[in-house]
Amino acid sequence: MTFTIAIDGPAAAGKGTLSRRIAEEYGFHHLDTGLTYRATAKALLDGGLPLDDEAVAEKVAREVELAGLDRSVLSAHAIGEAASKIAVMPAVRRALVEAQQAFSLREPGTVLDGRDIGTVVCPDAPVKLYVTASPEVRAQRRYDEITGNGQPADYQTIFEDVKKRDERDMGRADSPLRPADDAHLLDTSEMSIEAAFQAAKSLIDAALIKK
Ligand code: DC
Repeated sequence: MTFTIAIDGPAAAGKGTLSRRIAEEYGFHHLDTGLTYRATAKALLDGGLPLDDEAVAEKVAREVELAGLDRSVLSAHAIGEAASKIAVMPAVRRALVEAQQAFSLREPGTVLDGRDIGTVVCPDAPVKLYVTASPEVRAQRRYDEITGNGQPADYQTIFEDVKKRDERDMGRADSPLRPADDAHLLDTSEMSIEAAFQAAKSLIDAALIKK
């Protein structure tokens, strides 16, 4: 039987870095599920297709290939905006959730990160983490990341954007972002990624012993 680690939380909370680190530590497969929404959005944008036609978006979502998803080609702001629009569509979510669930069964184990992994995609995952940080800290991290890459950035714009994204992710009717009842909360506002990793590792090791 495989072993699944579900990691949820708002944008820029450090989920991605933590998930990759955990997957590497345990030799598990990792899926950043945000990329499945982003790849669907990019295919619609590239094809000149509408972003408000659920049937068209569902068809495109069903054709998304999980292998080879790459955040560097899907990171554009416009893609993120389009992704959060199609992420409210139940038919799109159903299509992508099916693909994510199939991925979660891979041996010897999987790490999936997103917004609804512990609540909808893998409700039976033996380890669920809800990784969060204050909007100010998340905006600052995003700002540092962009300027660290030598690109210009405006903190206030990023901060407003983080709050808007939270409202959309937490406020939607289908699968809103929220911690599963049995999720462990990891607030990384004042925690280094290394400290968060060590906290996660203790929880995972304890669950693996019980397996
Ligand atoms: O994490 P991200 O910014 O790459 O996610 C892009 C969009 O997809 C974001 O608006 C939230 C949405 N998303 C979702 O609804 N469910 C997931 N499991 C992952 C992402």
